[in-house]
Amino acid sequence: MSLPPDPPPYFRLHVFVCTNRRPDGHPRGSCAAKGSERLRDYLKARAKELGLGDVRINSAGCLDRCELGPTMVVYPEGVWYQYRSTEDIDEILSTHLVRGGRVERLMLRPEDGPAGGYGVA
Ligand code: FES
Repeated sequence: MSLPPDPPPYFRLHVFVCTNRRPDGHPRGSCAAKGSERLRDYLKARAKELGLGDVRINSAGCLDRCELGPTMVVYPEGVWYQYRSTEDIDEILSTHLVRGGRVERLMLRPEDGPAGGYGVA
């Protein structure tokens, strides 16, 4: 069966930022409890200031890497990041979202996480 060609993407990059919040004391924690909402707001504001109209930044529910949060994922590459500060956000912006590079020190990999990783057989 042949598939019809996909339409072109709406955005050059699509960033999903987890802003899920769990109650205090939940064993998995949550990204919002670690500051993701404030840092999402900062990311959106800086992207706008930089004129990145072809980059869409959306809040997301739980991305299921809670223990590693705050987390975000950038598509179409499917590159995941853990970030802690506005300095981390600035580096992701300038290196990945503007120049197409990677911030290796913040990247998450499938083997990262509790008990040897998420989704790794
Ligand atoms: S709460 Fe953010 S990945 Fe689950």
